[in-house]
Amino acid sequence: MTGYLVTGATGQLGRPTAAALRADGHDVRGLTSSGREGTAAADLVTGEGVDTALEGIDTVVHLATANGRRDLEMARTLARAARRSGVGHLVLVSIVGVDRIPLSFYRDRLRIEEIVAGSGVPSTVQRATQFHSLVAGLFAAQRFVPAVVAPAWRFQPVAAEEVAVRLAELAVGEPRGRVPDIGGPEQRDLRDLHAAWKRASGDRRPLLPVRLPGKLFAAYEGGAALVRGEPFGRRVFEDYLRERYGA
Ligand SMILES: NC(=O)c1ccc[n+]([C@@H]2O[C@H](COP(=O)([O-])OP(=O)(O)OC[C@H]3O[C@@H](n4cnc5c(N)ncnc54)[C@H](OP(=O)(O)O)[C@@H]3O)[C@@H](O)[C@H]2O)c1
Repeated sequence: MTGYLVTGATGQLGRPTAAALRADGHDVRGLTSSGREGTAAADLVTGEGVDTALEGIDTVVHLATANGRRDLEMARTLARAARRSGVGHLVLVSIVGVDRIPLSFYRDRLRIEEIVAGSGVPSTVQRATQFHSLVAGLFAAQRFVPAVVAPAWRFQPVAAEEVAVRLAELAVGEPRGRVPDIGGPEQRDLRDLHAAWKRASGDRRPLLPVRLPGKLFAAYEGGAALVRGEPFGRRVFEDYLRERYGA
């Protein structure tokens, strides 16, 4: 068995990961619940179609998400099915700071890491920082308010396409357990990222800086979303903005 299965292969991260593996000459099958774009249709929440999608697969890169609690069920379903079918390597992407930032979404991501580590399938877990698109989305989502709220948090956004290349490299290698975290080339204040987004998007609303007591603010202000050591990747936030909004 030499095949690769990328779950969430039509997603922001899944698409370039599958492409990077194919560009390297590997046999790749995508998996989504919709079966769009030639992917195998399998629902990781119900388990329907998952065993069939795993036939002939040695390495699974798990990137599917429903962005919520169902992700736990999806990880359990996949881990059990991968074990049953004799998968030799399960690669998972996770998020920098899931063990330090008190968000329930992050608690679930940490639990998913544990599910994969305890699955009985040799695994590799790569945590990455926020994608550029997610940071831009934080501002863009605040469409109906007169000012954009942004706390004094520091982020180190990274290009999803560059994370994808790293995941493809990990997938073809041996299982390594948790590997060192990766974060983009720059650590920046959210207010500074907002200024760049505002220039690129043409949004005219002012920034409303906020600061609140509590563990969540303390964690972000203390750098829990940042990676110490060597930065990863070359693409900075402005590169993303140029592509998204034009020059
Ligand atoms: N965004 C960030 O800043 C960031 C940073 C670090 C790590 N990550 C992690 O990266 C991963 C991928 O995120 P993304 O932004 O690429 O996600 P995305 O663009 O929302 O894509 C989600 C993918 O999952 C599939 N999917 C959803 N429900 C499914 C189900 N029940 N069964 C099978 N497939 C299903 C979707 O296809 P269908 O809808 O057709 O099923 C789609 O292909 C996530 O684990 C996320 O936590 C994200």
